Amino acid sequence: MTTITDATAPTFDLQPYKSLDNDTLTARINAVRQEMGPRLVILGHHYQQDEVIALSDLRGDSYKLSQLAADNQECRAIAFCGVHFMAETADILANRPERVAGRDGWRVTVVLPDLAAGCSMADMAEIEQVEDCWEQLAEVIDTGDVTPVTYINSAASLKAFCGRHGGIVCTSSNAAAVLKWSFGRRRRVLFFPDQHLGRNTALAMGIPLEQMPVWNPHNDELGGNTEQAIADSRVLLWQGHCSVHQMFTPAHVEQFRRDYPGIKIMTHPECTAEVVSQSDVIGSTGTIVRAIKEAPPGTRWAIGTELHLVNRLKKEHPEQEIHFLSPIVCMCATMYRIDLAHLCWSLENLSAGTPVNVIHVADETARDALLALQRMLEVS
Ligand code: 13P
Ligand code: SF4
Repeated sequence: MTTITDATAPTFDLQPYKSLDNDTLTARINAVRQEMGPRLVILGHHYQQDEVIALSDLRGDSYKLSQLAADNQECRAIAFCGVHFMAETADILANRPERVAGRDGWRVTVVLPDLAAGCSMADMAEIEQVEDCWEQLAEVIDTGDVTPVTYINSAASLKAFCGRHGGIVCTSSNAAAVLKWSFGRRRRVLFFPDQHLGRNTALAMGIPLEQMPVWNPHNDELGGNTEQAIADSRVLLWQGHCSVHQMFTPAHVEQFRRDYPGIKIMTHPECTAEVVSQSDVIGSTGTIVRAIKEAPPGTRWAIGTELHLVNRLKKEHPEQEIHFLSPIVCMCATMYRIDLAHLCWSLENLSAGTPVNVIHVADETARDALLALQRMLEVS
């Protein structure tokens, strides 16, 4: 367990907030923002609902939000409208030891408005499984020659594992730079938890599929691999995925190309290699937002990423023709948990001095995870 939820005095009850309408909630949230001023920063990930994004001070992809949490010198509290691993990362970066010392010991309070906002992909790699994998690998290859790389979509304990073993964190916007850094130091990479981001990035660097065995954490015998496959590997891919992005298929791409001549396919690198290899633009949510802003008006797009972002891009860019790259609704159910009721409840408790849903990563875990996060911030 890496997260400590601070004990607090009695707090406001969440239930009454659920019956309030959005106008009332928005007015009350704005009242707290006004009262707290620069002491409060609301960070919003691009997948949040429109009402929540509208009230966020800053929005971004996971990399940009990490940078914002690391750089802000003024705020005393961060309300993170995103998912659990993002709030943990913000806590580690905003409360790194030199920052806390420079503030006479006080910590930035990081709150996640709904603690159930997790990430199913992050849950696919548990620290015990990764440690077991590392031990099994040590029986077959020299693990001194392996850099563990964790996607930022992972628990703080996995980032700490990387910190302790000379490893690093990556996001979807810097995975190529991180792999390049890793191969500059060691021969192999163990990449978790998203096999697709790992595979897509390594394929783009020219590493053949035969050198990328997949490690199944539920198979006790070398993750389902032969000793030879491990010995021949350059990138060991963890068998994890995003349930939202795996819904996009090559058939969807083919259909759009057939029905909309000239259309550009843009996908997130959490999509499968079959989809990504047929895409014109591949990138993080930040890259997707930028590409739409910068494209000539009238460009036709089919976008393969979370539904709320694609729908918002459609609204904000009527000059572009934007389609969702699937007939099926692909939305992130956990990102969706953050709503105005939870945001208002958490902010009013913050301003009353009774913070709820505080994300506070245990000191030792935070110290080791920071090593891996700092390496990432230096590389990209
Ligand atoms: P980005 O880093 O592109 O914002 O992606 C985060 C995420 O969870 C995508 O599913
Ligand atoms: Fe996790 Fe996928 Fe949701 Fe991103 S979209 S937070 S990877 S479940």
